[in-house]
Amino acid sequence: MRMTNKSLKEYLSFLYTDQRELIDFIDTVTTNHSFFFRENKSIEYIIQQFNLSPEKEKKEFKIWCAACSTGDEPYSVAIQLKDLGLSFSILATDISHTVLETAARGIYRMDKMQNVPLPLLHRFFQQGTGKYKGQIKVRKEISRHIVFKKFNLISDPAPQIQFDAILCRNVMIYFDFQTSEKVIHKLYHALAPKGYFAIGNAESLMNMNHNYIPVKKIPSLYIK
Ligand SMILES: C[S@@+](CC[C@H](N)C(=O)[O-])C[C@H]1O[C@@H](n2cnc3c(N)ncnc32)[C@H](O)[C@@H]1O
Repeated sequence: MRMTNKSLKEYLSFLYTDQRELIDFIDTVTTNHSFFFRENKSIEYIIQQFNLSPEKEKKEFKIWCAACSTGDEPYSVAIQLKDLGLSFSILATDISHTVLETAARGIYRMDKMQNVPLPLLHRFFQQGTGKYKGQIKVRKEISRHIVFKKFNLISDPAPQIQFDAILCRNVMIYFDFQTSEKVIHKLYHALAPKGYFAIGNAESLMNMNHNYIPVKKIPSLYIK
């Protein structure tokens, strides 16, 4: 606001008319911190359950990463599913245009990879050389399973897809109670029966009115 020299009212209408400013505004007010294999216990559990499913040979598992930031989370899920030879597709969404651009590029600094098991790192990433030294790129065999799309959890209607798992992690921590409650209801309807719902370890559904059932011994994981 200071840079544009506008009052609050003027700045708000400016946001409605100027796409570039809206992108900059969203980048300023959102926190995009993420890294590969972050809070992986719940993801590991979901994938194990998919792998035990009697339908796994003929089924394509559908996953929605509903606040995917720079892509670290959907790529982490994808490489673990691929490693087991499961068939899957991932919808990865975020409100921020800028993080989605980074996600679609799939190029990362090595320090984001500290939790990735070495065999998976070697198998599913290409080491950068020359000007890309110190960076790493996700291989096409992984990225082709993921569609990145802009989506506002608060205002956009949920896709008409029944997902086997929805990850909505480390984003509701920035929402107020009522907003979080609305979002978890919206996501519930996009989840297939017995589908999994994961939130961040620092988040909670406590005191919210909902029908998710907690998964025993796995914090932050629920089932429909
Ligand atoms: C801290 S990151 C979490 C990334 C990842 N889920 C993880 O756990 O590492 C939070 C992300 O939520 C996104 N976000 C914030 N508000 C949102 C909204 N209303 N709809 C969709 N995404 C939103 C931000 O742009 C940011 O990329």
